[in-house]
Amino acid sequence: MDVIPLGPGFGAELRGVTLADVAGNDAAYSAVRAAFEEYSVLVFRGQQVNDDIQLAFSRRFGPPEVTKVGSMGTGSHFVILSTFGPNGKVVPADHRQSLRSKANQLWHTDSSFKRVPALTSILSARIIPEHGGETEFVSTRLAFERLDKALAERLESSFAWHSYAHSRSQIAAGLATPDEVNALPPVCWRMVWRNPVNGRGALYLASHAYGVEGMDEAAGKALIDELTAAATAPGLGYLHQWRQGDVVMWDNRATMHRGRPWPAHEGRLMIRTTISATEADGVAGMGLPSPQAAE
Ligand code: OGA
Ligand code: MN
Repeated sequence: MDVIPLGPGFGAELRGVTLADVAGNDAAYSAVRAAFEEYSVLVFRGQQVNDDIQLAFSRRFGPPEVTKVGSMGTGSHFVILSTFGPNGKVVPADHRQSLRSKANQLWHTDSSFKRVPALTSILSARIIPEHGGETEFVSTRLAFERLDKALAERLESSFAWHSYAHSRSQIAAGLATPDEVNALPPVCWRMVWRNPVNGRGALYLASHAYGVEGMDEAAGKALIDELTAAATAPGLGYLHQWRQGDVVMWDNRATMHRGRPWPAHEGRLMIRTTISATEADGVAGMGLPSPQAAE
């Protein structure tokens, strides 16, 4: 397996390894896992992808999420990001499916709004538009390491509130349905996620984050906005231009990503699997200590 660095200080393309190798071979998995811990975003090109291979690969990294209510693929291990309607035609720009792809165009990390956050997401290109539709990544690990020491120390003991309804409300009122809002109450996480393998901290931020525990609403939001702006400033990202056969996986603990727009009349179909973080991934201690636990 060859590792070809891609982005400004993170991201790598892996050559000489297939998803099926990782699914079926411990040594291949270990090599890819080590690259994942180090590079945060991994690109596999020229893959023969189908749902079974993608899921078998994904399962190596931990337990797959079950797709939440309100998303296409609900109840399965797949999130279907599609702008094709049931009749096979591309849906109009104001259709719910299009608006949902717009919400993915805000800088975010996947599943920070869930009770169990995600370790990694694995995204495969199935039908790609001719223009645009890239996915862009930044390293929140490098962003954390660029902060001045006093702020970094303060953030290590700070917690932010995340909610799905919040990120969706930025796109359109009511984009999160009552079912989704009820299923996904706000959750609170540490603002720095330490990688247990290499000890490096990363800002844990997202479009889902709306407030900082113990700060007034406006000040907390201003802090989140300021940190997001610093993490995503021009020149810091890796822009993935999708080709047929591409699979990209990323570390939700140490990156943010966003989709880029494409012409509404061109269809796009991507399939995502998402792996929940476990104790080995450093999730223990990410939650807000309860008052009882603090005593
Ligand atoms: C995702 C996501 C962006 C894209 O799959 O989690 O944010 O470009 N995708 O499809
Ligand atoms: Mn996403």
